[in-house]
Amino acid sequence: MDKPKFAVLGDIHGNWEALSAVLADAERENVQRYVCVGDVVGYNADPEQCVERIMALDCVTVRGNHDHYCAHDMSLRSFHPLAAKVMRWTRDRLSADQVDYLSNLRMSCTVNGFLMVHSTLDMPDKWGYVFKALEAESHFAYQTTTLCFHGHTHVPAVFEKGSRVERLQPEKISITLGRKYFINVGSVGQPRDGNPDASYVIYDAAARQVRFRRVPYDIATAQAKIRAASLPDRLAVRLELGR
Ligand SMILES: [Fe+2]
Repeated sequence: MDKPKFAVLGDIHGNWEALSAVLADAERENVQRYVCVGDVVGYNADPEQCVERIMALDCVTVRGNHDHYCAHDMSLRSFHPLAAKVMRWTRDRLSADQVDYLSNLRMSCTVNGFLMVHSTLDMPDKWGYVFKALEAESHFAYQTTTLCFHGHTHVPAVFEKGSRVERLQPEKISITLGRKYFINVGSVGQPRDGNPDASYVIYDAAARQVRFRRVPYDIATAQAKIRAASLPDRLAVRLELGR
């Protein structure tokens, strides 16, 4: 098996400025392959451009809840009204090819020996959130690989399972054999950990290392596009707060 350097992206949410900055950073870091843990669309104003770029990158992507609901004409009652409004808006903008692409994304998949899922492997279609070590326990029962990447909370995190599950700081991690790692790559397009910079991860398969990256981007332009599209102003404000 070849051992490339991967950029692991997630929760891009239609933020073209953030995605462009992250891809430029990954290129400077000599990344060779791109993968994505889902939620390419929703919240921000450039869903078509982001889907098109991800498709062109040949980026293996799993299905996020926003991808799922934007690609299917389903009830949005379970969503916060702001999220539901953007989903309806996004549905109207995506081309038939893009809807087809999103609706065919897999819930989870294996790439070069690691797994990817948007939420958790135990119930991927229930879109559960994992913030605490305890919440990762049932996921680990289904994680057959050393490494699994996920997203969904928009908060970068590392859950490590040795004799018990611990939550570690999202910094450089060296993969230790005999342990399992469930790694939240944070959000490219709408970080919620108090840091507004775009978040993603570089996984160096040869060095067996995971590095978290934070990338500043043109937030003002992303905000102006949200406002020009008459999407909820709260979505623009939260970009600069990182919440
Ligand atoms: Fe998301």
